[in-house]
Amino acid sequence: MSATLIDGKAVAAKLNSETAKAVAELAKQGKTTTLAVVLVGDEPASQVYVRNKIRTCGEVGIISREVRMPATSTTEEVLAAVKALNDDDSVDGILVQSPPPPQVDEEKVIEAIDPDKDVDCFAERNVGRLLIGQKEGFRPCTPWGVIELLKHYNIDPAGKHAVVIGRSNIVGKPMAALLMQKGATANATVTVVHSRTPDISRYTRDADILVAAIGKANFVRGEMVKEGAVVIDVGINRIFDEKLGKNRLTGDVNFEECVEKASMITPVPGGVGPMTIAVLMQNAYTAAKLRFEKKN
Ligand code: GUN
Repeated sequence: MSATLIDGKAVAAKLNSETAKAVAELAKQGKTTTLAVVLVGDEPASQVYVRNKIRTCGEVGIISREVRMPATSTTEEVLAAVKALNDDDSVDGILVQSPPPPQVDEEKVIEAIDPDKDVDCFAERNVGRLLIGQKEGFRPCTPWGVIELLKHYNIDPAGKHAVVIGRSNIVGKPMAALLMQKGATANATVTVVHSRTPDISRYTRDADILVAAIGKANFVRGEMVKEGAVVIDVGINRIFDEKLGKNRLTGDVNFEECVEKASMITPVPGGVGPMTIAVLMQNAYTAAKLRFEKKN
């Protein structure tokens, strides 16, 4: 079998055009939407992600404010920048690109962001709301992007065995929570495996839906995938390609092997990546709308 490709770029473009309409509608009522993106340091991958986020803001009519801080910034300096953005009434959403340099206490930074401006859905209040299944408010960008892909391709996780590889706060944990939720595009039986799980293949070989978010290039091999499974690759790894003689992006899934086993599969790039940004744009709009409604 050769799998159908899940086209994240096309689905993201559709979501972005809906967001652009909603943002324009809000603007007609006199409310602009502004997203502040804080980048601490000059890590090349983070710079690329931030550039893509800022570019997409422009495409959907969201005003972006880029705040660049030196790699030597202290936690206190980043907290001060966040506080200034919290206090700035023209800013609707705030995102601090992760990971910051090691001397910066990321937990403190996340908790300093006004939960009403937390477009990453990283703050305690918003993670709590997600876990108890509240429909309103912010959605975790990458996991919700995966749910939108499943929805678009009519893949219903209900009653299926979904296996999530990875337990990060950004992807693995919220991904598992969304898939197990009661509701549409959910109701799965979920297993989470991670770096301390012995014999990961034992679980992945039973997965109807396999979500790889472990941050290791080509980690999922063909023999780890059940015939006909849906394979979602969240990984973005930079590797040196001997044949090309230069660096290229690759996911957590060995695409060439797994495309022969899966029924549907996301490519890297062009799969989950654009969806993360599309959901971020939705969240920025949600932040603006909620703030506008609160005021009026
Ligand atoms: N780094 C990798 N993914 C993300 C994300 O979704 N949000 C932020 N802030 N940083 C990231």
